[in-house]
This record gives sequence, C-alpha cells and structure tokens, in this order.
Amino acid sequence: MSSQLDYPPRLKLARIPTPLQLLPRASKRWGAGKRLWMKRDDLTGSALTGNKIRKLEFIAAHALEQGLSTLVTCGGVHSNHCRATALVAAQLGLDCHLVLRADDEPEQHTGNFLLDQLAGASYEIWPAGEWAGNLKKIYARLESEFKASGRPALMIPTGGSDSLGVWGYIAAAEELRWDLEESRIERGVLALATGSAGTQTGLSAGVAIFDLPLQVIGYAVCDDAEWFNRRVSSDWQASLARWAQLPRVELVPHTRDHSVGPGYGRADASVYELIAELTRLEGIPLDPVYTGKAFQGVLADIRNDFYDDVDDIIFVHTGGVFGLFAHEPQLLAAAGRAS
Ligand SMILES: Cc1ncc(COP(=O)(O)O)c(C=O)c1O
Repeated sequence: MSSQLDYPPRLKLARIPTPLQLLPRASKRWGAGKRLWMKRDDLTGSALTGNKIRKLEFIAAHALEQGLSTLVTCGGVHSNHCRATALVAAQLGLDCHLVLRADDEPEQHTGNFLLDQLAGASYEIWPAGEWAGNLKKIYARLESEFKASGRPALMIPTGGSDSLGVWGYIAAAEELRWDLEESRIERGVLALATGSAGTQTGLSAGVAIFDLPLQVIGYAVCDDAEWFNRRVSSDWQASLARWAQLPRVELVPHTRDHSVGPGYGRADASVYELIAELTRLEGIPLDPVYTGKAFQGVLADIRNDFYDDVDDIIFVHTGGVFGLFAHEPQLLAAAGRAS
C-alpha cells in the first residue's frame, strides 16, 4: 500500500492493519437495522496495545532521530498511554519516566500501573488536585534533570496528543480506506472515545485528506463537546503550522457528550452492564473509562434516531483492556457474579 502522503519518520511498533470486524450479534441486539462494525485497534499488540501505539510510532521515531534517550509522559495512575510509553521505551532500550496522577481506587498496583513497573519505568505520583496545575513546572524540572544526567528526554504531553502523535490516526484513516473497499461500506459513521482529542483530530483530518465517506464523531469521556471541538480545531491548526506537507483541509469537529457520566474514570452501573453484555455477545471486552462509555453513547444515539440516515456504524475500539482490572467489583456485579 503506497501513500501519496509524505509521513514523518516512523517506527514499526503496531500490529497493523487491524481488522475491521462486523458485529453480527451486537447489530441484531442494538443496531435497529444498521450494521455495527468494530475497527479492532485493541489488537495493535498484546501488552503494547491500543490507540496510543499508533501515535507512539511517530513520537518514538522523533525521539530516536533527535538522539534523546528518555521518554517522559504523564497521565492517571491507570493511564493506557503511560503503559504504552513505558513498554515502547523498554522495547527500544530507552528510559521512561511517568508523572502520574493518583486515582481514588485502592487497586493502585493492578492493570496498567503494574505493567509500567514491569517495564522498568520510574515514576512519581501526585495528588489529583495538584497534578494538572503543577505539570508545566514538573516537566521543566524533569527536562533539565534528564539533560544534566546525560539522558535527555522527549517530553510527551497527555495522551501523546500533539502535532507528532496526530500522524498516527491520519495513517489509520488511510488504512480505513482499504477497509471500506474490502467491506463494501459506501457511507457511514466512524465513532470513537475521545479523551485528549488526539485520536479524534487524526481521524477527522485523515478522513478529510483521503476523502473517505465517513462522518467522524467523538464521544467525550470527560469535559464537554465544546471543549473537544475547540481542542481538535486548535491541535489541527498547530499540526498545519508544523508540517508543510499536510494537505490544508478544513475540519468541522463533531463531539457528543451525553455519555460522560459521573466524570473521567468513573462510570455508571449501566456502563459495566454494557461491557458485560457485549463481552458475552461478541467476546470483545470494552473498558469502563473510554470505550465502554463511548459505545454506550453510540447506542443511545441509535435509539434517539441520531443516526437515522446511515446504515453502517464503525466503532473504533481504542483498547484499554488493562483498565478493566481496577474495576473488578463493579464488573463482577454487572456480570452477575459475586466478588
Ligand atoms: C483506551 C483509550 N481509548 C481512547 C482514548 C482517547 O484517545 P485520545 O487521548 O487520543 O483522545 C484513550 C486515551 O487515553 C484510551 O486509552
């Protein structure tokens, strides 16, 4: 598959192309006559899995090109992005340092955080109320400390969502072009969970660049639709300013925010029940922080006739399986099992 787009340097880290899979039983159960598909970006790897790997292919390539030997990034203690970065660093022989925000749950050492530690990442954990406000200062300190120690660092923002990471999902849109052809999808919706807007920005841009017959809809897992629409637009402007080779397409971001629920990292019982039901129906677990909420938002929109005029809905499974383990009691209850 040759591309007309001049991509920046990229490493091969993700198992791609990922499958575009029809969900026959989920379509029957919830589709109201539409076909529900899943773009299986939860299959980009085993431990090194999910949407962040596509971004890290470009981010880590940049670090190597610049002769940097440490990857620094940040997120919640259960962050998928931090886990992916820690594993990529291990795979490339780089150091990794994580600036983590403490979460409420007691199971601090399970799931992603366990993998961060297995991968050898160093970390610091900040109280939730102090993390965001201090991030700039912490990053400045770390950048000079790593430089002084002779292991200079690439400072990666939350979620790897910047003008480097955006290429990951521009490339994924190019991959989708072949998926649509192969699956004979002529027109549809591309729905995804949006948390730091990088995946949404890349897909929105990629769909416009490759002129795909898809409408990209982000389902917010925090904040609100207006925040995401603004962020996608400003991140795209920053990307255009950085990369002369990007086609100057206009983005009209579209975010839905009715499935945010009680806030980032927290979900209503109905999300856990949906995760359990979909896993029984299709053998595909979603996670309660991102994909479960977003999928719930899509199903609500099908019920509300928001997708009246489309026959095909593609949900991007952005991964997050390790996020399940910090929510064991809620998931067991939803599956009808005692914990
Ligand atoms: C599993 C999963 N899905 C979706 C997202 C959202 O992606 P983005 O941060 O690019 O909006 C994330 C990001 O943290 C994630 O871990």
